[in-house]
Amino acid sequence: MPTNNDSILFPPQASTFAQDVDALYYFIHYLSVFFWVGIVAAIVYFVWRYKRGHREGVGPSHNLPMELTWSIIPLILVIAVFLWGFKGFMGMSRAPSGAEQIQVTGKKWLWNFEYPNGQQAIGELHVEVNKPYKLIMTSEDVIHSFFVPSFRNKMDVVPGRITTFWFEPTMVGEQQVFCTEYCGDGHSDMLAKIVVHTPEDYAKWVEENQKEDTTTPLPELGEKLYTSKACFTCHSTDGSVKVGPTFQGLFGKQEQLTTGQTVPVDEEYLRESILQPNAKVVQGYQPVMPTYQGQLSDREVSGLIEYIKTL
Ligand code: CUA
Repeated sequence: MPTNNDSILFPPQASTFAQDVDALYYFIHYLSVFFWVGIVAAIVYFVWRYKRGHREGVGPSHNLPMELTWSIIPLILVIAVFLWGFKGFMGMSRAPSGAEQIQVTGKKWLWNFEYPNGQQAIGELHVEVNKPYKLIMTSEDVIHSFFVPSFRNKMDVVPGRITTFWFEPTMVGEQQVFCTEYCGDGHSDMLAKIVVHTPEDYAKWVEENQKEDTTTPLPELGEKLYTSKACFTCHSTDGSVKVGPTFQGLFGKQEQLTTGQTVPVDEEYLRESILQPNAKVVQGYQPVMPTYQGQLSDREVSGLIEYIKTL
């Protein structure tokens, strides 16, 4: 993976914004170091120069040229920092008109991406290097925040509102997405990755992902989906309790619902729980699972059910 800047302070510079953001950061940093050194040196000098017994008469109480200097130079510097930062901020706020639009939905605790052709994916966005993308983002529940450190961009994702985030990746490889607004138990697991491809690899990916997988055996397909659809965020396969019931030993069990009713865990119950998760909520759990209606084919739903049966 080519990196154009290896730094111990920052993740790689993987978008068109990164260089400018880092340059401004370093400018403010070294400016602060310069003044810190100067001010500390002056303090040390004055302590020595005017210590008791060393004072030679009374110094001037007013010096116009000096006062103007220490007012005007910092003023010019803060205006420069403001203009530089404002220019960068405006550049990040407005996506170029040709940018490819991706719909992003944040919900506890996953990121859902919808491509222009309607195809959806959880936790993984595939893009092409050196092309602009505009994410149109909203939340289904609470405030989340979409942060890609290597792109040097971050934006809140707010229920009932639409916010946007654009980027042009400059580096091939996987970039990490974090949620940076505390949103509950699964906050730290609310991750996603942006996979940046070369144009050739992207074309290959599009071709492979537009045809449905009809060859992988069902339990194996389900196991893959358990990871790719981020089921693992809330459901364990080893019996441990997470946000949702564990998948271990789930099939064939009797579940007590919040309504007091008891239902057997069979194929139909699992299918309903995947597509209309809040129709039957198990006692002791919150109705927080998002629906997978429209995101899984019938064969994929069957795959998940067959996978759960093996646990
Ligand atoms: Cu979503 Cu924190």
